[in-house]
Amino acid sequence: MRHLIDPMDLTVQEIDELLELADDIIENKEKYSKVCDGKKLATLFFEPSTRTRLSFEAAMMELGGNVLGFSSSDSSSSAKGESVSDTVKVVSCYADIIAMRHPKEGAPFLASLKSDSPIINAGDGGHNHPTQTLTDLLTIHREKKRLGNITIGFCGDLKFGRTVHSLVKALSRYENVNYIMISPQELEIPQYLVEEVFEKENITYQQVRTIDEVIEQLDVLYMTRVQKERFFNEADYVRLKDTYILDMPKLKNAKEDLSILHPLPRVNEIAVEVDDDPRACYFRQALYGKYVRMALIMKMLGIEKPQ
Ligand code: NCD
Repeated sequence: MRHLIDPMDLTVQEIDELLELADDIIENKEKYSKVCDGKKLATLFFEPSTRTRLSFEAAMMELGGNVLGFSSSDSSSSAKGESVSDTVKVVSCYADIIAMRHPKEGAPFLASLKSDSPIINAGDGGHNHPTQTLTDLLTIHREKKRLGNITIGFCGDLKFGRTVHSLVKALSRYENVNYIMISPQELEIPQYLVEEVFEKENITYQQVRTIDEVIEQLDVLYMTRVQKERFFNEADYVRLKDTYILDMPKLKNAKEDLSILHPLPRVNEIAVEVDDDPRACYFRQALYGKYVRMALIMKMLGIEKPQ
């Protein structure tokens, strides 16, 4: 049985297949509407979510399957002190596949050791978020028609942002990806990723403090929210939260075909005026997240593409 805990659990070929399947689902939705008939997905969310949980649930419903689960730890037996392992052991009796989000890094991995059903990590603390990465890869691929040969700027909270960590890792396997990391010093990408990804793979990257100095180089700009819930003190969060605000004047020197991504939720880091610019991809990206999760659920349940 395979689980999806880290984006690197998937080979490049498997990612290509998932993106291709997601593209086919987008083109031929009807064909897929019953493929998960009789199957159940459980969403175990010990941490808040809108897109990830609802897109998983919508994905399973659009495949003809059913969903069950909970959306906060207070409404599950973890409020009574049950361990994650026990919760998962029990839920795997009820569900064919489980998507789990947890504030503690490594919790979905531990759960996978006890589960009788495949576990999908739907975000573990500041660590990984592999299904957001699939969403991001599908978005970049649909917008740019390629995953290599791009200059991508990651902007905002590169320290705590798990979507950044997972996407940085996943892109390291494609040719000629030029990384520009835009953050205040306090929110730079963690050293373990510098060592495990950039140094190990001999990838050079730039580290800068402002969007303005690099905007004209970018093919993709990946904006992120400052991760309030992972800060140790409120004062640091308040000081750093509005470091970057992307607005129309900031886009003056950007390429015509720049793709602006954001995993959402947005707080202040992208002005609402940018939403109407054709370069803003973040709402399309949220929609693609549903389709790529449909593809993933099918693959993990071993369901063949219908004729
Ligand atoms: C992200 C997450 O949960 O890490 N959201 C999401 O899944 N779309 C990003 C965030 O919360 O800032």
